[in-house]
Amino acid sequence: MERNGKVVLVTGASSGIGKSCAKYLSERGYTVFGTSRYFPPANLLETNGQFHTIRMDVTIDESVNEAVQAILNKTGGIDVLINNAGCALAGAIEDTSPEEALNS
Ligand SMILES: NC(=O)c1ccc[n+]([C@@H]2O[C@H](COP(=O)([O-])OP(=O)(O)OC[C@H]3O[C@@H](n4cnc5c(N)ncnc54)[C@H](OP(=O)(O)O)[C@@H]3O)[C@@H](O)[C@H]2O)c1
Repeated sequence: MERNGKVVLVTGASSGIGKSCAKYLSERGYTVFGTSRYFPPANLLETNGQFHTIRMDVTIDESVNEAVQAILNKTGGIDVLINNAGCALAGAIEDTSPEEALNS
């Protein structure tokens, strides 16, 4: 893959802040890889027309390693990491089950 500008990895780029960052940087010449648990596997090298989309679950080491290795194989390096993936759970602690807390 031709490397245009710096290579940026944005975790959690399917919505919200991560998607906005990925779009913003890709429009300014960065080579952007954005991740989601539901994007296609890394080996398919798909794009959404703005940035490269790669499957990654940040809670699973193998998934992170697979996606990062795929990017390294294609570009030779990652210059910037925007480690944005995550979720928030709002509510009173007494109304939150251990399962909800662990899975959010
Ligand atoms: N918005 C706020 O007011 C606010 C305030 C404080 C902190 N934050 C933090 O800022 C970040 C972005 O917030 P946002 O409002 O833009 O959130 P959002 O729209 O809900 O987006 C969250 C992103 O994280 C990804 N994600 C969640 N769990 C993941 C996992 N296990 N592995 C990989 N990706 C995962 C989601 O991708 P998929 O579901 O497609 O996998 C999605 O792309 C989050 O970490 C959030 O906790 C936000």
